Amino acid sequence: VGEYADESGAPVLVMSRRGYPMSRVPGFDPPASLRSRCPVTTVSLRHGQRASLLTSYGDVRAVLRDHGRFSSDPSSPGYPQLRPVVDRKPAPGSFLVTDPPEHTRYRRLLTGEFTVRRMEKLRPSIERITRTHLDSLLGSASPDLVADFALPIPSDVICLLLGVPVSDRAFFSSRSRAHHDRTLSADAVQAALDELHSYIEELVRSRVRSPGDDLISRLAAELTVDEVVGMTVLLLVGGHETTANSIALSVLALQESGEWDALVADPSLVDSAVEELLRYLSPVHQGVVRAVTGDAVVSGESLAPGDGVVASLFAANRDPSVYPSPDSLDIRRRARGHLAFGDGVHQCIGQTLARMEMRVALQALVERAPSLRIAVPFSSVSFRFNAPIYGLHALPVTFSAPR
Ligand code: HEM
Repeated sequence: VGEYADESGAPVLVMSRRGYPMSRVPGFDPPASLRSRCPVTTVSLRHGQRASLLTSYGDVRAVLRDHGRFSSDPSSPGYPQLRPVVDRKPAPGSFLVTDPPEHTRYRRLLTGEFTVRRMEKLRPSIERITRTHLDSLLGSASPDLVADFALPIPSDVICLLLGVPVSDRAFFSSRSRAHHDRTLSADAVQAALDELHSYIEELVRSRVRSPGDDLISRLAAELTVDEVVGMTVLLLVGGHETTANSIALSVLALQESGEWDALVADPSLVDSAVEELLRYLSPVHQGVVRAVTGDAVVSGESLAPGDGVVASLFAANRDPSVYPSPDSLDIRRRARGHLAFGDGVHQCIGQTLARMEMRVALQALVERAPSLRIAVPFSSVSFRFNAPIYGLHALPVTFSAPR
């Protein structure tokens, strides 16, 4: 991926001793300490908190699979805080930050909603949504791949999935995209998010009053209103920006690496390209955090209850012992087993949907807009780091011969 700079000009990726880039977590120790202490490195987070940064594929996978000794509950002592904590108490239903058996109870209600069969049923709608946004991208006088294509696709898809009425989609999308909008003040963003929350709560209450054949109605039959709201917000937050970033970053990475032309020449490579892009980009780049709740030894380092770990998905996916030449994007690589969706009980529940959205979007682009090029030099591409994920503010593109 190279070494990027954020808006303040600070380096974002550093090279570790073993040669793979790692994402910068605000407040991390300087690169020298990473180099000397790989693959388990002590890092300092906000407020002087220390945590162990795990960077090898084997360690990251082992920790994610061991929910008994590595907790996702932010109230566990030592749980690493990667961003300022506004409200330590997660909303009920937000099962990403719970452990079994609570986690199992919530997650079980959703597994049937995200099966391959369910997602295949959504495919025609995803293709239609993608076509619509590609038409506007191709018709735009100043096409921006982020605003015109990568952001609205997952937003429309999540509306469909949640059963947001068509008449409300513009409101819903604009509020859920507000935190991308650099023209808004912090107060305006907060106001938009409050409106979104109220909207979701009202939507849930209306489904309680008159249930339909949609996800929210099914959840509302089993859970309290607050729990359904918490779960809905989790799906929205978890499924929207991650997928949008993945689509935009994929186009950039394909263009930068020259693999765009390979995909144009053979669009049937799209499935393997998407796996490789997920590995290479690792959109949840800072990785996932866990609190240690039982004695454990990771790459020879002893961890005890009260310690915190940051499992770097990015670094794990660039482990040369698993992926030779890990810093090269090779769309023919068999990138199976990458950890971009995590692993263990919390492994991304929306991964089948995310893969489908990425495949449909990239295939449509290479087939209908093979002449697409990035309209600005790489050094002007504006990255956005919204811990723990990263993406692009905008990606101006040109087409010499749109179809
Ligand atoms: C969990 C990544 C798309 C919903 C996760 C986790 C990762 C991840 C790494 C595990 C977090 C952990 O272990 O603490 C991604 C990426 C995506 C994506 C890279 C896009 C390319 C989606 C979509 C949805 C979704 C489309 C839903 C519509 C969730 C939920 C969880 C989750 C609800 C929590 C699962 C649990 O705790 O059991 N995702 N995700 N994600 N993701 Fe995704």
